[in-house]
Amino acid sequence: MRMLGIDIGGSGIKGAPVDLTRGEFAEDRLRIDTPHSAEPGPVAEVLAQIVKHFDWTGPVGVTFPGVVIDGTTLSAANVSKKWVGLDARSLFADAVGHPVTLLNDADAAGMAEMRFGAGRGATGTVVLLTLGTGIGSALFTGGTLVPNTEFGHLEIHGKDAEERASARAREEHDLSWEKWAHRVSTYLAHLEKLILPSLIVVGGGVSRKADKFLPLIEGVRAEIVPATLQNTAGIVGAAMAAADAAPVARTRRPA
Ligand code: BGC
Repeated sequence: MRMLGIDIGGSGIKGAPVDLTRGEFAEDRLRIDTPHSAEPGPVAEVLAQIVKHFDWTGPVGVTFPGVVIDGTTLSAANVSKKWVGLDARSLFADAVGHPVTLLNDADAAGMAEMRFGAGRGATGTVVLLTLGTGIGSALFTGGTLVPNTEFGHLEIHGKDAEERASARAREEHDLSWEKWAHRVSTYLAHLEKLILPSLIVVGGGVSRKADKFLPLIEGVRAEIVPATLQNTAGIVGAAMAAADAAPVARTRRPA
């Protein structure tokens, strides 16, 4: 089965049809720059462009970098504040002309890692953290997602964790791997005190350089592994969510 997944990020909006049996792209992905200041209308237009590019007719899964409840976007840490309280699912569905399933970006990445990547088969408490522009989180217990956790906004030393330990913080403050790993360790140790995970999956673009910082992480009991799907996870998870939401044809029971 194939489903179209689209991942909305602060710098790029990326989409591809996904082969849901293998958790892989069925065609090359399309990336379009996120319109300046990532406002709702222009982002919806990009979604429509992506759907048209793939001649897609059918449900679409879309990720958003903030809290999403019942299709309404409720936070916007790194995108325009116009998203807060918006019925983004309806906006997108009108723009693309098909039903849309909308979910948080880290939740989508986590779903993909749990089914096809580093979390496969893990049954305890698992947390996936995407260290990127912000810090996204996805929490699983017994393989089931607890949606919309926002562990990137835990307060550490009086600051939002994502201001100290995201990949953007490393770049903006020009931190060495050692210094940044120290910040990530402090963050993970704090999170661990609150949720006691057995496995922490570290995702986001920086997970490609996991060998540079994961060996430097200290003071954390849980097993820590890099994500394996890396930049396909959001799109694959979006497609999975759309498939889960699609109505299943039911056969009538005999009377
Ligand atoms: C947002 C999360 C999002 C993460 C990664 C955070 O700032 O609050 O909802 O998952 O960034 O995009």
